[in-house]
Amino acid sequence: MKIACVGAGPAGLYFAISMKLRDPFHDVTVFERNAPGVTFGWGVVFSDQTVENLQANDAPSAKIVADEFAHWDDIDVHFGGETITSSGHGFIGIGRKRLLEILQDRARELGVRIEFNAECDPADPAWRDYDLVIASDGINSRFRDAYANAFGVDVDVRANKFVWLGTSKVFDAFTFAFEETEHGWIWAHAYRFAPDCSTFIVECSEETWRGFGFDRMEQAEAIAACEKLFAKYLDGHSLQSNAAHLRGSAAWLNFRRIKCERWSTGNVILLGDAAHTAHFSVGSGTKLALEDAIKLADVLTRPGLSLEAAMDEYVAERNLEVLKLQNSARNSTEWFETLERYTHFEPLQFAYSLLTRSQRISHENFRLRDREWLEGVERWFWKRATRGRSEKAAPPMFAPFKLREMQVENRITVSPMAMYSAADGTPNDFHFVHYGERALGGAGLVFTEMTCVSPEGRISPGCTGMWNDEHVAAWKRIVDFVHANSKAKICLQLGHSGAKGSTRVGWEEDNAPLADGNWPVMAASDVAWSPVNQTPTPMTRANMDAVREQFVSAVRMGIEAGFDMIELHAAHGYLLSGFLTPLQNKRTDEYGGSLQNRLRYPLEVFAAMRAAWPSDRPMSVRISASDWAGDQGITADDAVAIGEAFAGEGADLIDVSAGQTWAGAQPVYGRMFQTPFSDKVRNEARLATMAVGNIYEPDHANSILAAGRADLVALARPHLIDPFWTLRAAAQLGYRDIHVPPQYLNGMSQLARNLKRDAEAAAALRV
Ligand SMILES: Cc1cc2nc3c(=O)[nH]c(=O)nc-3n(C[C@H](O)[C@H](O)[C@H](O)COP(=O)(O)OP(=O)(O)OC[C@H]3O[C@@H](n4cnc5c(N)ncnc54)[C@H](O)[C@@H]3O)c2cc1C
Ligand SMILES: Cc1cc2nc3c(=O)[nH]c(=O)nc-3n(C[C@H](O)[C@H](O)[C@H](O)COP(=O)(O)O)c2cc1C
Repeated sequence: MKIACVGAGPAGLYFAISMKLRDPFHDVTVFERNAPGVTFGWGVVFSDQTVENLQANDAPSAKIVADEFAHWDDIDVHFGGETITSSGHGFIGIGRKRLLEILQDRARELGVRIEFNAECDPADPAWRDYDLVIASDGINSRFRDAYANAFGVDVDVRANKFVWLGTSKVFDAFTFAFEETEHGWIWAHAYRFAPDCSTFIVECSEETWRGFGFDRMEQAEAIAACEKLFAKYLDGHSLQSNAAHLRGSAAWLNFRRIKCERWSTGNVILLGDAAHTAHFSVGSGTKLALEDAIKLADVLTRPGLSLEAAMDEYVAERNLEVLKLQNSARNSTEWFETLERYTHFEPLQFAYSLLTRSQRISHENFRLRDREWLEGVERWFWKRATRGRSEKAAPPMFAPFKLREMQVENRITVSPMAMYSAADGTPNDFHFVHYGERALGGAGLVFTEMTCVSPEGRISPGCTGMWNDEHVAAWKRIVDFVHANSKAKICLQLGHSGAKGSTRVGWEEDNAPLADGNWPVMAASDVAWSPVNQTPTPMTRANMDAVREQFVSAVRMGIEAGFDMIELHAAHGYLLSGFLTPLQNKRTDEYGGSLQNRLRYPLEVFAAMRAAWPSDRPMSVRISASDWAGDQGITADDAVAIGEAFAGEGADLIDVSAGQTWAGAQPVYGRMFQTPFSDKVRNEARLATMAVGNIYEPDHANSILAAGRADLVALARPHLIDPFWTLRAAAQLGYRDIHVPPQYLNGMSQLARNLKRDAEAAAALRV
């Protein structure tokens, strides 16, 4: 095949090498616009896995690269006057220039032609003479842009400014240095990539950048300003740019996240940064480029595979890798963009939050990397949680938490879950066993399902209620059992179904109207949940008064039943959520329109409930922190304002859920997918929060808590199938101080023993 590679970056060169290795008769030319030796950037970091992939593909070049790697294990985080050092991270790095030299030499050795000073124009008809034109022309790819529609290009320009500099100061650890200045925070990511040279990337918000006047400075002046700002880390060494040809502020960039729906059109194939980018803070762009090159060469040279089939396989496999990485990279990018959310943290927690930002390192990964450091974090966490009474190195999920005068034994909660198993609202033996069993299972706090304040406020005929004495007695039986037989606290979730009322039980058809016996529903406005649901009657002021009093009456009954805590359900599209979301609330009075107006009625209800509930017992509110509808619905910023508003009326905890507020929502699911909302509400509004949503491993809970993304962690579905989730987690993590019902002690010690033996066997296999 006659092949042109546009761009002599890692992607173009390594693809040329990989094709020649597979078939030396390929005619491969690499065109590079720059002169030899002219390149941007300094060092790049790799993982061990990437090195193994290079080794398998081309041992000679992999050996030269590996022999020249700089290795380091430590990460230093300089923040708030302290240096937090953790170890065991295992990085390897090499200078970009050196990597390209090695690849150029190897490419020539294999017969690849490299033409420098060759600016390639996608419009040039000469490209038609090639079987394949590999667009490995980097993040600003002209070839990608020339066929933007065919490739389905999506570019996301990120908020922060950064500049990629180098220095002769040798950093022994991967270094993050955060400096607070009169213009805001500015920080450096620095690491050694050669015996005498380090990369030094400076990053800050656009506001800080303008505050310093970087937008008006020539490069030399900006570099001098950075040297001054980071003088204490540079020990007299200077900073240098290798983008000296760029004038003014042009060396400062905004990271551009590139995604393409398709990676080939005609004879043009995208490779490396031209097809996709991942933020530099996860350091994987070069790895992706090299691995793309290997895969593309593989599929193109596989006998019997048509070009079309080869492309399908290339894109299918590589796209998955890219998506995974871009997901982590997005978390990491956002962490740096919202840095000020975390700058009130103590240095140790700040460092933990930074290092777990992409969700690629979890609590237990950390234990494997640096046990001592992690135990320091755990001791710090427990000391704060117990106000200095305990400094044990134990998983954060088992630390107590206090809300008003209620102390929960640990941070795991059984999330509210409708059981659709009551008749006329009365909890029965099913509920008695269900809640009793979950309380015995070790969670610190058990929420009831949404318990409705009136018969017409039920979702389905099977919902539990709190509107008559029979209900009080049945709930009291459950609450008394929980208090007498476990250490768990129990919270009554109160709600009204609004537009989502009068529907079938959950396991039949979710949100579908009843086959018969439907009751009329009311809501903020006459917006039906879906075309098959009833159109609700907009609430009058008299309706609003009546429903508020139903909530207050249910609170009083909650006191009689002995509940420890009350939660107001203002999420998931039910009555109060329907007031909050502009997708359901179309009112033109003082209860519709602005967020302040939409909050008015839910706050009125909450305040009335708070007034009726004892002041030493806590209250929470569950919110949907996003409608998953872009700017058309509730956004994460609104969620912060909503959390603050409820806290202003005496809410002690914001239970941060998301979605289920309109039928067309398309959430992006994933592990812990709603936790970023809890993080935002907690750390921007400085409120206690509970995170929920696809949290299912003890490691998830511990990572969330230690990083300060929530104060409590709620699990719903895992508790449906395993009431003993918390005790099981304690056994798995070797935590002994948890209360185990005495009747179950033998089972717990057997489980702990078996899990310990399994863990030791697995560790022996790894060695
Ligand atoms: C600040 C920063 C830090 C980074 N740190 C890391 C890291 O630690 N680890 C890591 O793996 N990655 C890192 N990256 C990303 C990494 O640099 C890229 O992902 C990688 O270089 C992609 O390789 P590529 O070959 O696709 O593109 P590039 O390396 O950009 O190569 C493209 C080449 O094409 C040439 N070219 C462009 N247009 C034309 C044209 N029209 N005609 C001819 N030639 C052309 C360019 O001159 C260039 O040489 C970092 C990036 C940045 C911005
Ligand atoms: C069967 C079931 C019933 C639910 N009922 C309620 C409810 O009554 N009130 C509520 O706020 N959330 C309810 N939810 C939502 C959960 O509390 C939780 O937010 C959601 O399931 C995500 O958590 P998970 O990924 O741990 O399941 C319910 C979830 C399930 C699975």
